[in-house]
Amino acid sequence: MDIFEKNDKRTHYCGTLTSENIGQRVCVLGWAQKQRDLGSLIFIDLRDRTGIVQLAFDENTDREIFDKAFSVRAEFVLCAKGVIRERATKNKNIPTGDIEVVVDELKVLNKAQTPPFDIADGGDVKAELRMKHRYLDLRRPEMQRNIIARSQITNLTRNYFNENGFIDIETPNLIRPTPEGARDYLVPSRVHKGNFYALPQSPQIYKQLLMYSGFDRYIQIARCFRDEDLRADRQPEFTQIDMEVSFTTEDELMEINEGFMKYIFKNFMKKELETPFPRMTWHEAMERFGSDKPDIRFGFELNNISDIVAGSEFKVFAGAVQNGGSVRAINVKGGAKFSRKEIDSLTEKAKHYHAKGLAWLKKSNGEISSSYAKFLTEEENNKINERLGLEDGDLILVVADKNKVVFDTLGALRCECAKRLGLLDPMDFKFLWVTEFPLFEYSEEDQRFYAMHHPFTAPMVEDYQYIESDPARVRARAYDIVLNGTELGGGSIRINTTEMQENMFRVLGISKEDANEKFGFLLEAFKYGVPPHGGLAFGLDRLVTLLLGHEDIRDVIAFPKAQNASEVMSKCPSYANPADLAELGIAIIPQDEE
Ligand code: AMO
Ligand code: AMP
Repeated sequence: MDIFEKNDKRTHYCGTLTSENIGQRVCVLGWAQKQRDLGSLIFIDLRDRTGIVQLAFDENTDREIFDKAFSVRAEFVLCAKGVIRERATKNKNIPTGDIEVVVDELKVLNKAQTPPFDIADGGDVKAELRMKHRYLDLRRPEMQRNIIARSQITNLTRNYFNENGFIDIETPNLIRPTPEGARDYLVPSRVHKGNFYALPQSPQIYKQLLMYSGFDRYIQIARCFRDEDLRADRQPEFTQIDMEVSFTTEDELMEINEGFMKYIFKNFMKKELETPFPRMTWHEAMERFGSDKPDIRFGFELNNISDIVAGSEFKVFAGAVQNGGSVRAINVKGGAKFSRKEIDSLTEKAKHYHAKGLAWLKKSNGEISSSYAKFLTEEENNKINERLGLEDGDLILVVADKNKVVFDTLGALRCECAKRLGLLDPMDFKFLWVTEFPLFEYSEEDQRFYAMHHPFTAPMVEDYQYIESDPARVRARAYDIVLNGTELGGGSIRINTTEMQENMFRVLGISKEDANEKFGFLLEAFKYGVPPHGGLAFGLDRLVTLLLGHEDIRDVIAFPKAQNASEVMSKCPSYANPADLAELGIAIIPQDEE
């Protein structure tokens, strides 16, 4: 192995060399991606974070160097020096394909075993293997691009908020639990045995306190922790772009954050973004799209057909209406081409959302086929077809159930159908504000109200009068920013009086003692002059994922957790040393082997 020395300094990154460098002497550093031995000629593709360049060795190369090049294998770490010349056979597929480095000095800085998967080709590598060797996975050009893009986006974020007078303030990571609706990660205290810190689900309470302190405009790129079931757009630790403003209104907050998106699009995507974004109330979003984060790149909107079928002989439909639910339908334009098998798989999907079934009707070449038409009268059928605007080539999907099930199912099916019909262009960015969320959500299971956003969200002024008598009808001064069916961020105007905060806790079933114990400091702080304030937090991981046209947030996180919240590479979480546990005053209750 050769020693890396002072004069081995890189002159150029591999991927930046072009025909303009012909005749120059360069020093390049990186990994051998591929070595090709053609007898009297050897070529090595050398890779760094910017791309690859070809190293050439031929009959004029010093024998010792030629032999060294011969010994190079994939992922050896090299330092190569030489002069750039025009290639005899050009490779139009790579940016540096016109040139090569005629190497006259070569150092093998380290050797490598054959990697468990090919770095060059993104191909079909099993997720488990990628995660186990994440440092190799991260060498892949696509992952390098993603991680570098993320860094560019965080830099732009800091610039935008800095230019707009925001102060970057760090808040603690060992805190009292902040309620955001997920389970906390707890950290035992050694000094205070039997007591625990929580890792923040968000900096919510602290950013509010900073407003009380007069910082006026706060920004933090903050790490958050939530112990919840993972999905493609959720990680147990993730990053928020967290902002808060004093003396503000919903309109100003939306404007600031639209400005932020515009800035990111202009400087990162090199695209102009039209603002303001459309706004829709939560109620309208549910009625039209069955979702509080609707994807508005396509139609297939929900239609309520309860009035048409309420008195029908068909009990599946009429029964749902009589039980206080509804019957709603979507018209999937062009969906008539789905086979029976495909419709069956849509039915399976509907069942994931607790629908008891999925009724359908399609019109193809003038012929109607349907799972439900035969149970309805001609008049009922005609009315439904008319309301849905049935045309040849269409597929109508109907769900009859409790409203929540109907919305969840049709909300998901319209997206699934759009996906199957190839209507989802990831580079078509459709932003939307969803406003006027309900303040509370009732849990049938627990027989109590929960805060839909978090318990510091202010009620709408005109609804506050109902907070005790009819909490379900109170709307919140909360808004989400939605992009292509993903909740990108959420925020609200906050409560800033003791009385309102105490009322909120009361509806949430938090006793006065409990509220004092947990949030006494916050209630106390209200006594000393709290400005009106509000804010919002974006999910940075989600933002980067969508901007890059990916679906899984793990593709933009250097070291993400697997689906079961573990990290495969370092095997964490792991057992703790009994001595460490004893010091924390913690004993483990043995669990039955599963
Ligand atoms: P909220 O809980 O809506 O609001 O979170 C804000 C945004 O954070 C992202 N996010 C996540 N991203 C990845 N993995 C997760 N597990 C995860 N959970 C949330 C989402 C979400 O829109 N304190 C409030 C904000 C405020 O009121 O200012 C809050 O945390 O993109
Ligand atoms: P059945 O009378 O159970 O054979 O149902 C007739 C049709 O209605 C079938 O296509 C079922 O899939 C469908 N169906 C059953 N329950 C529901 C429901 N709750 N909502 C919509 N369609 C349903």
